[in-house]
Amino acid sequence: MPNVPYVTLNNGVTMPMLGLGVYLTPGDQTASAVQSALSAGYRMVDTAAVYGNEREVGEGIKRSGLNRSDLFVTTKLWMADYGYDQALRGFDASLEKLGLDYVDLYLLHWPAPSSFEATSSAYRAAESLLAQKRTRAIGVCNFNADHLDRLAWTATIGPAINQIELHPLFSQQKLRRENAARNIVTQAWSPIGGIYINHPNDPSHITRVLDHPVLVGLAAKHGRTAAQVVLRWHIQNGTAVIPKSVNSQRIAQNIRVFDFALTDDDMHAIDALDTGTRAGRDPEQFDMDFIRARAAAAKKAEQAASPTGRSPG
Ligand code: A2P
Repeated sequence: MPNVPYVTLNNGVTMPMLGLGVYLTPGDQTASAVQSALSAGYRMVDTAAVYGNEREVGEGIKRSGLNRSDLFVTTKLWMADYGYDQALRGFDASLEKLGLDYVDLYLLHWPAPSSFEATSSAYRAAESLLAQKRTRAIGVCNFNADHLDRLAWTATIGPAINQIELHPLFSQQKLRRENAARNIVTQAWSPIGGIYINHPNDPSHITRVLDHPVLVGLAAKHGRTAAQVVLRWHIQNGTAVIPKSVNSQRIAQNIRVFDFALTDDDMHAIDALDTGTRAGRDPEQFDMDFIRARAAAAKKAEQAASPTGRSPG
């Protein structure tokens, strides 16, 4: 079984450096992906209220037969549930779906800068859940240094984790340093960049991280896959990772990254791939206002396209 190292968080809780992500894992494939991961040696699973698969994550955990205390389960509060009371209700709903008594890590999903007061209130609710031992650690996702500083005005406990978009084409060196300076562990989402296509309108640009010739070359050099090389790069950088896969072979492959090492030159070659361009949402823009405006625009376009000018019933 691969020996996954643990990192110690700001409150002494330890967390595996590698776990299974389930963003975009369809509900009907989630329980079996979690089961495959746990039998391959994973002990951490990362989900979120908005992924719609917490119930199935709980099912996969139950099927594994493993002791709860040996597992590390993360879920996230969606922005629509920001605010103190709403956050407590959101947490209860997640816990009920997961079928658990507690989670190991509870994260705010996005900073939601246009209504940051609600964000801060949600974080204070997370602090109270921590005090009640209903979560063993708390943190945030997609916060930049400014968001972290704004949160610190009202927080009494610093976030243990900042989970951010991070892969070789967007390697976030500055934000990783900002996290470290605040004793926050950086965790990468989309760590192998698999679900994001960079520069879709310009085919001369690399579109898939794992197809990049530098990574393909390093994979050949080490007798590994490009995904393993990238995951190893994260681990050597001290970044925790949650690669997603629904395929049991790729799930097993992604955890076999603790029995080889990249050289300094290899690490620098991967560092040099940074484009400085994110593939996912910009945390400064992405909030409930953005989501509501997008939904309204989509509805308007649908109404305009319909012959009666109305939405289909
Ligand atoms: P699949 O679920 O079919 O395996 P990330 O977590 O970085 O966003 O990457 C997830 C994407 O990468 C998914 O599309 C996943 O597809 C794919 N993927 C996961 N592991 C590997 C691997 N070892 N090699 C190639 N693709 C992978």
